[in-house]
Amino acid sequence: MPPATGRYDFLDYCSAPQRKVEMIPLANSSMDLTHRPRRLRRNPAIRRLVQENLLSVNDLIYPLFVMEGEGEPVPIASMPGCFRYPLDRLLVEVKTIAELGIPGIALFPVIPQHKKDAQGSESFNPDGLVQRTVKAIKSLVPDILIFTDVALDPFTSHGHDGLVDAQGRILNDETVDVLVKMAVSQAQAGTDFVAPSDMMDGRVGAIRAALDAAGYTEVGILAYSAKYASAYYGPFRDALDSAPKFGDKKTYQMDPANSREARKEIDLDIQQGADIVMVKPALAYMDVIYQVKQHTNVPVAAYNVSGEYAMVKAAAQNGWIDEKKIVLETLTAMKRAGADMILTYHAVDVARWLQDGP
Ligand code: PBG
Repeated sequence: MPPATGRYDFLDYCSAPQRKVEMIPLANSSMDLTHRPRRLRRNPAIRRLVQENLLSVNDLIYPLFVMEGEGEPVPIASMPGCFRYPLDRLLVEVKTIAELGIPGIALFPVIPQHKKDAQGSESFNPDGLVQRTVKAIKSLVPDILIFTDVALDPFTSHGHDGLVDAQGRILNDETVDVLVKMAVSQAQAGTDFVAPSDMMDGRVGAIRAALDAAGYTEVGILAYSAKYASAYYGPFRDALDSAPKFGDKKTYQMDPANSREARKEIDLDIQQGADIVMVKPALAYMDVIYQVKQHTNVPVAAYNVSGEYAMVKAAAQNGWIDEKKIVLETLTAMKRAGADMILTYHAVDVARWLQDGP
């Protein structure tokens, strides 16, 4: 049973304990104001009534890193509190996540160097790490939603999300062929949603068609639709050891200077069958989240990415900020911008904080 979700009143949380204060009649010299917005902030009860957005555990997806082998989880230096989990330890973690009431997890594999190749062929191995992990989670914790990443970068020796030609160009259509195989193999393993994060053109439609043809009409697509070429992914690439070995990702991921283009990408992905669209990163792209929300009728996800997490953790460890307040404020702001769900490495902490109450 997921725990009952308590109302989280951000303003309550920020304010000092309330003391009863006698109402003092206004002096004659007071200003003649028709509107006094502060009337709606006078005490926690009225603030609760007028609160427009509410962060809850129902909004959270927790990204998890799975590795081959057994033993202790391996800490990720640039993401304090995050680990690479061997499968048996990951399962324990997933149970806890489900017990906290977090509805979903996003899975990312750490692929050993010797299994990487230029084609990323390990990505569609039916006995690959992701496929085995999905099966194991589904047999142990069947109700938690699994979002599996569809992109080649953890699997390619060169670290790009696509196949590369002799000139170092990323090949679009050839890459989509591999992504389709990868998505179908994840569906076979039992995933709930495939989440293409590669930014190749046309991949959502190709994946939808292949899933349907194989009978997986119930497997959904969470499309990384507006995914930017961002420096905020640095710690994630440390976690997966997946940084590109040459060049950058600017021929497929979007230019941070653009937002109209985000709407175009979103439109294309919805036309091709995306069930949920995503904006990534989140913090520096709140305007994009807002625009996408206004522009579409499908649920909007935001990815509070590794670099955003690392900045908060580093400042908190130095005692420079209050981690709990900063995280709850930031995620509430993402909801205000229009996110219906948030992928965040803070999810487990947030779920616990929300249970504790303000
Ligand atoms: C890979 C992928 C990346 C992230 C999610 N999927 C990195 C990248 O595109 O280079 C980043 C997530 C994060 O930074 O938290 N396709």
